[in-house]
Amino acid sequence: MRRKLVAGNWKMHGLKAQLGEVEAIAAAAAANPQVDVALCVPFTLIAPAVAASSALPIGAQDLHEADKGAHTGCISGAMLRECGATLTIVGHSERRADQHETSHDAWAKAAAARRHGLHVILCCGETEAERDAGRAERIVQSQIEKSLPDGASPEWLTLAYEPRWAIGTGKTPTLDDIAAIHAIARAKLRMMVGDAAVGIRILYGGSVTGANAADILAVDNVDGALVGGASLTAEKFVPIIRAAA
Ligand code: G3P
Repeated sequence: MRRKLVAGNWKMHGLKAQLGEVEAIAAAAAANPQVDVALCVPFTLIAPAVAASSALPIGAQDLHEADKGAHTGCISGAMLRECGATLTIVGHSERRADQHETSHDAWAKAAAARRHGLHVILCCGETEAERDAGRAERIVQSQIEKSLPDGASPEWLTLAYEPRWAIGTGKTPTLDDIAAIHAIARAKLRMMVGDAAVGIRILYGGSVTGANAADILAVDNVDGALVGGASLTAEKFVPIIRAAA
């Protein structure tokens, strides 16, 4: 039985003034122990959020694939660990779009995170044009094939399906479409890692709110949610945590 995971992705939002939200989310997580909760915050907020939230896992949204070196402006897995992060997102579609990251980059970053003992949330998902062209399933399969790190296991890897066109738009796929992609992702994981695939959580992300979370979280093979906008305040995020409990 896979425990549900509700992870927030604060993207480029959050200053110390928002630590009260982290505290309130941590309190809600403690009050709902049946569900795993995590928050991926900007690099600058990791250490303060760790200090403010005690038991709530705090994560990053990216890292460099190398352990150290001449990479101006980048951050390593060891640095993330040192400031208290226990997980990181890799391969988010905003990084694929804005920084031209590929599935191969995601693969290398996931491997780096693993080397440093960070839990990985590995993202995949099609664009609207790819969905309209009937290619969503093939795109997701191909992204998983190219980005899943060797020896992936539930202890350190979670997959997140985030259709790009659903991110921040208020649009979501139908529940049947979500079920179809998650089933395909599960099958792909099984082909690649065998029985370990049964335990790997597959999150859905893209315009998840308190209003639609219960329905989405009830879909087969949806093991939680990766939440952007609605994770920025406890008022919006806590109902999603409760829906998963
Ligand atoms: O990683 C979470 C994300 O991309 C979804 O964002 O704002 O649509 O929940 P949002």
